[in-house]
Amino acid sequence: MKIAVLAGDGIGPEIIAQALRVLEVLKEEGMPMQFVHAPLGGQAYDQYGHPYPEFTQKICRDADAVLLGAVGGPQYDNLDRPLRPERGLLAIRKDLGLFANLRPAVLYPELANASTLKPEVVSGLDIMIVRELTGDVYFGQPRGMRTNEHGEREGFNTMVYAESEVRRIAHVAFDIAMKRGKKLCSVDKANVLETTEFWKEIVIDVAKEYPEVELNHMYVDNAAMQLIRNPKQFDVMVTGNIFGDILSDEASMLTGSIGMLASASLNETKKGLYEPSHGSAPDIAGKNLANPIATVLSTAMMLRYTFDNEAAAARIENAVKKVLAAGYRTGDIFEAGMRRVSCSEMGDQIVAAM
Ligand code: IPM
Ligand code: MG
Repeated sequence: MKIAVLAGDGIGPEIIAQALRVLEVLKEEGMPMQFVHAPLGGQAYDQYGHPYPEFTQKICRDADAVLLGAVGGPQYDNLDRPLRPERGLLAIRKDLGLFANLRPAVLYPELANASTLKPEVVSGLDIMIVRELTGDVYFGQPRGMRTNEHGEREGFNTMVYAESEVRRIAHVAFDIAMKRGKKLCSVDKANVLETTEFWKEIVIDVAKEYPEVELNHMYVDNAAMQLIRNPKQFDVMVTGNIFGDILSDEASMLTGSIGMLASASLNETKKGLYEPSHGSAPDIAGKNLANPIATVLSTAMMLRYTFDNEAAAARIENAVKKVLAAGYRTGDIFEAGMRRVSCSEMGDQIVAAM
């Protein structure tokens, strides 16, 4: 099990350290894991002058899975666009062909009060957002800024999806729906955008192979509204890159804290990049305050999706549940009456619960 570890920027190194402690428990018990560290994002720019340097590329291509902390920080905001940390993230997704991004939004019963929505609206919430990650307006060509024929400056991007891209992500989503509640909602803007009208057409065609899955379609604006109005109507959602970017942030907040949510980005061979859904939180970096749970849960997704080890994945998830039930909370999920812990203390508790 060759695992590339990219700690990244901001709170990245702190949360990765705790996730590695959890994996070390399994390693000490005999799981054949090997960790290889490499930089990504701002950290990589500082060392190699590029957010996804060749050094990192080689290690990640060679690994079975990649564990990532987070990238980005204010000190990099004025770099040329191609050198910014976020470009490192887009580059590694494209380079490794990580087209399927799974973003679960699960509400832990202990944290029902952390959501800004009423407990009855969110209790029991368990949504899986399947976001296409290597296409759409994020990568479509042409793109750029130019002066048009009227002499005015303009910015432009291209929204485009090839049939094969839609088919493969639809298959991933239907397969996941089959393992869950057999309900899939495909999100589009087919009333306005041809790209997503085409998306819808292909999803309907793929659906013929999954007669047991109940498929419905929703415009993205309505989906954004329904997520707030009645989020429990959703089981699995599948959508393109940009809609998925937006809806997954929205869905994460239903659960109270983005500090709890893991994610997996998979290619066609089950190689995956696993990372928390949150960012690098520069404001609390280096203070041992961050919530490592999303990163710890990302290691569980790694064991489940890349290494097919459901038992080990469930063990980590249960350890997290136990620690929450015992009242341990980092600052982002703290409530009166609970035990406030630091990032590393949360790691201590999870390791002990393992
Ligand atoms: C995400 C992030 C990235 C994205 C940024 C940092 C490039 O928002 O993973 O959702 O837009 O995909
Ligand atoms: Mg995002």
